[in-house]
Amino acid sequence: MTVCIDNSLPGDSQVVENKNYCDTGELVLDGGFTVPADTVVSSGGFDAPEINAFGHTFRDYDVESLRNKQVEEFYRMNHINQTYEFVKKMRDEYKKLDKLEMSIWECCELLNEVVDESDPDLDEPQIEHLLQTAEAIRKDYPDEDWLHLTALIHDLGKVLLLPRFGELPQWAVVGDTHPLGCAFDESIVHHKYFKDNPDTNNPAYQTKNGIYEEGCGLENVTISWGHDDYMYLVAKENGTTLPQAGLFIIRYHSFYPLHRCGAYKHLMNEEDVENLKWLQIFNKYDLYSKSKVRVDVEKVKPYYQSLIQKYFPEKLRW
Ligand SMILES: [Fe+2]
Ligand SMILES: [Fe+2]
Repeated sequence: MTVCIDNSLPGDSQVVENKNYCDTGELVLDGGFTVPADTVVSSGGFDAPEINAFGHTFRDYDVESLRNKQVEEFYRMNHINQTYEFVKKMRDEYKKLDKLEMSIWECCELLNEVVDESDPDLDEPQIEHLLQTAEAIRKDYPDEDWLHLTALIHDLGKVLLLPRFGELPQWAVVGDTHPLGCAFDESIVHHKYFKDNPDTNNPAYQTKNGIYEEGCGLENVTISWGHDDYMYLVAKENGTTLPQAGLFIIRYHSFYPLHRCGAYKHLMNEEDVENLKWLQIFNKYDLYSKSKVRVDVEKVKPYYQSLIQKYFPEKLRW
């Protein structure tokens, strides 16, 4: 069965993950790169392909203006509905981990049922994206096995879109994330739609720090609900031995206002600052591995199975 991620909102909305604009208003790519049409980007030995699976440059939204409208509609829904109360409710619900039991690899295969047709850079099954990302990082950071595994599992939380996991709407699963309980930073994509978010009527949430204290640490900040936070909860509650940097990557990889635009840095503590360096490395690969470089799943499977065994229990509660 293939579940396409495009039918859960009225108005034919679709989402493209991680499209971002900063102060300049220019289109910004995952991991902080802009890609001129005729440029091959090389970073740290990883030669990024020029074109994606559709023959366009990455994040080439100008050729896809209809898609841009759909993305805008997605963010309108996201910004109106993601409230502080909503996130609290979702965290409480999904922290129960009472949906089903399965291994990490089983979840990778389950995610294969999800093809994100709305992502212009990606027409492969999700497992290929996961393995492409992981293999690209493995090539450049051969000794950081935790980072290879982090790459493999970072998007597994997208199973929230499947019926067995509550079939959440897209605005509650994918897209960029941002904090609740304090002012919405101007760098958040399609910021204007926050005017219809009920949190805007709460004066306590309108200041730079809002309900938080400067330097309190991101761990204490409520971030909009989606596949990042869900996978973080699953990993943590099942007792993973991944290092903190791995958990940080999983939890904040869609937090573009922070890692691309530098917003909300005042809420970070020292540990966050260290972990952010790894997240920025990771994000380069998350984008550029969405290419036609095929990965032989069966060939690399034993390696990733061994990492799963090292860092996770055999069966996890989801
Ligand atoms: Fe993601
Ligand atoms: Fe990803």
